[in-house]
Amino acid sequence: MSADILPIVRTVADLRTQVRAWRAAGLTVAMTPTMGALHEGHLSLVRLARTRAQRVVASIFVNPAQFGPHEDFDRYPRNESGDSALLASAGCDLLYAPDVSQIYPQGYATKVSVSGVSEPLDGAARPGHFDGVATVVAKLLNQAQPDVAVFGEKDFQQLQLIRRLAIDLDLPVEIVGAPIARDADGLALSSRNAYLSAEERAVAGMMNTVLADAATRLKAGDSVEKVEATGRAALERHGFQRVDYFEVRQVGDLSPAGPPPYEGVVRIFAAAHLGQTRLIDNRAV
Ligand code: PAF
Repeated sequence: MSADILPIVRTVADLRTQVRAWRAAGLTVAMTPTMGALHEGHLSLVRLARTRAQRVVASIFVNPAQFGPHEDFDRYPRNESGDSALLASAGCDLLYAPDVSQIYPQGYATKVSVSGVSEPLDGAARPGHFDGVATVVAKLLNQAQPDVAVFGEKDFQQLQLIRRLAIDLDLPVEIVGAPIARDADGLALSSRNAYLSAEERAVAGMMNTVLADAATRLKAGDSVEKVEATGRAALERHGFQRVDYFEVRQVGDLSPAGPPPYEGVVRIFAAAHLGQTRLIDNRAV
């Protein structure tokens, strides 16, 4: 179907030509950066982007700089033609799928590092990860120069880091967060869910249940320390291995939670492994 054929550009020059043409026609532009292996969560970002601007460009780039040496860069799922059809069906207007040389050309030497918000949680568990994210996002936003960019709350720490980055570097873009898309059992959608065996998948949804229970306990008056210890133990009891963190943090800069009240002030963050798969999730209180 011709409606499902999405134009693709692979160079910064071609991307900018298209974005400039839209602007010249008086159209606003939203961007949804992704690493591909798209699922309903990504499509919800594209749909939200559509409500915020008249044209939507999605990018697909599996960014080597945000993977650690022993992480899943090589096996990260890649399916450009499937992704392209999904993006078209969600109302995306253009796919930017750069070659690595467009992002990290010969002699590339610059790193963007956001301190503070990037330090706890995944910053501690995945050294270098957020420098890789900040660098590529700064580049993608500068390459496309959209009016709006949409990122999922599934990676809430990443979202807050990108907000900080956009303010600090005076990027003329509005950063918009999109709610977490979940399966029927509550599992937050993620490209990495594809790694789960049937047995692991049956357990995975419990991460959301444990987070929801923690939010309830916090609102009922349990201390942060107690909620964190109970949540960690519950994940282990359900069969999660290596709980990287189960922590209550302030929403804005992810610093440690202060005294109550907590509603609207903190968020609860979890990361743990099921077999070879590392899952993360978070929940508002
Ligand atoms: O969330 C992601 O998919 C990636 O971290 C992002 C923002 C596209 C940067 O590579």
